[in-house]
Amino acid sequence: MAFENILTEQKGRILYITINRESKLNALNKATLKELNIAITAAFNEPSVGGIIISGAGQKAFVAGADISEFAALDVSAGTKLAKEGQANVFDLIENGAKPVIAAVNGFALGGGLELAMACHIRVASDNAKMGLPEVTLGLIPGYGGTQRLTRLVGKGKALEMIMTADMITAAQAYEFRLVNYVVSQEELLPKAEELLNKMLLRAPLALASAINAVNAGAKPGVNGFGVEIAEFGKCFATEDLKEGVSAFLAKRKPDFKGK
Ligand code: COA
Repeated sequence: MAFENILTEQKGRILYITINRESKLNALNKATLKELNIAITAAFNEPSVGGIIISGAGQKAFVAGADISEFAALDVSAGTKLAKEGQANVFDLIENGAKPVIAAVNGFALGGGLELAMACHIRVASDNAKMGLPEVTLGLIPGYGGTQRLTRLVGKGKALEMIMTADMITAAQAYEFRLVNYVVSQEELLPKAEELLNKMLLRAPLALASAINAVNAGAKPGVNGFGVEIAEFGKCFATEDLKEGVSAFLAKRKPDFKGK
């Protein structure tokens, strides 16, 4: 399918999604969110895709936020709908996906851009990256899960500081606060994301899905994460991949996982 606001390219088992609105610093308008929903849903359903790397077009920005020009016309009901549908169709979709998704954060990751990066399972940042949740400068708060995901990643005190001051932090600070997994040079950004994803793609795909589900369960209110872990652990024993992994280990050879 042809997209207007994103680029998609599959190389091997990796699907690269690039937010492609460089003149607007890749700001997420409604059309871009819709295309992300379509591309990510298709990738999760496509057996030849093992994982996704998301980045922003150009050197300046990953994503500089939700598209502010679309906010002027909203009322309470439309604002609520925007956040609710955005969370479900893109941000929760990524976080709860059964395949690893890595954000390669090049430049500004602000507002909805940082929320997009935080919905991904892993974040790699280039050393010029700048991150923040500046919504209160607009009279808003984060609406795509930022208040929850930032708090889980960096703790309540630092999250409230970042949200209420609206200050941007550097890549080095983001690493120090555990907001990103790695900081590398701009040239090393995609290679580092690829190195991580390629390693995951050597592992048993259904076990990766179970790991994502079990880790996510701990952050869901009313869900017993330990119980989910037990159920997911048990489910692994129904997979051909577990038989393959165990026999490969015992035979001292590399496993050949099929995701079955
Ligand atoms: N929504 C809509 N348009 C945006 C945008 C956003 N979140 N962020 C940047 N843009 C647009 C600018 O309006 C400008 O468009 P124009 O050339 O048609 O005027 C273009 O992208 C380039 O941005 P500009 O502000 O000129 O770049 P800069 O280098 O001076 O500043 C930022 C970069 C990121 C500091 C600045 O663009 C900014 O503060 N953006 C908004 C960040 C934000 O509040 N995000 C949270 C939204 S909830």
